[in-house]
Amino acid sequence: MQISPSILSADFANLQSELAAIRNADWAHVDVMDNHFVPNLTLGLPVVEALLRVSPIPIDCHLMIEDPDRWAPPYAEAGAKSVTFHIEAAADPVRLARDIRAAGARSCFALKPGTPFAPYADLLAEVDMVLVMTVEPGFGGQSFMADQMPKVREVREAVRRHGGEIWIQVDGGVSARTIEQCAVAGADVFVAGSAVYGAEVAADAVDHLRSLVARHRH
Ligand code: DX5
Ligand code: ZN
Repeated sequence: MQISPSILSADFANLQSELAAIRNADWAHVDVMDNHFVPNLTLGLPVVEALLRVSPIPIDCHLMIEDPDRWAPPYAEAGAKSVTFHIEAAADPVRLARDIRAAGARSCFALKPGTPFAPYADLLAEVDMVLVMTVEPGFGGQSFMADQMPKVREVREAVRRHGGEIWIQVDGGVSARTIEQCAVAGADVFVAGSAVYGAEVAADAVDHLRSLVARHRH
């Protein structure tokens, strides 16, 4: 069970100290948005390279961008230990997943709420994690979509059948109120932005979220 706070809800003027504030988490989740795949613009490779120089924990890059086939591998080459691309945007996901692994990162594909998992089940052979979005990607602070839990269950079943160590991540609206139903459905990596950075003490929120899912096992 791993916690990956999203720095999208952090203070962008003080990202180094905001990363230090979550040093008890497993990953720092960095949302890259290009204003094309999603209607929002955040940051890109130069900023991620700077974050990699100062982060006390590994970086989990969530790329909400078009043409990930071209733009995703450089994030792995820069040193991000996990790189997630959206399946809706990838032209050749098998090759892309292999390129990301070859560059030294865990590879992962993400599914928007309206995107089914079944057509991509064969991709489990090529990836280390599947991200099931629990909001429409683009913004922090949106409401959790409980109707995505059947998809989490479906991915967990497929991972069980496939074997190996493939993680299932949920992202969007994950909080103390919603995290347990994600764990019960089969998720084991939890992204939380506003629930962590909106708390009085970010590290305490990380510990609290972790304690809520600690007793769940897959
Ligand atoms: C949304 C991003 C999320 C976002 C989550 O597109 O992928 O990582 O930061 O924020 P919360 O946890 O506030 O929903
Ligand atoms: Zn994200």
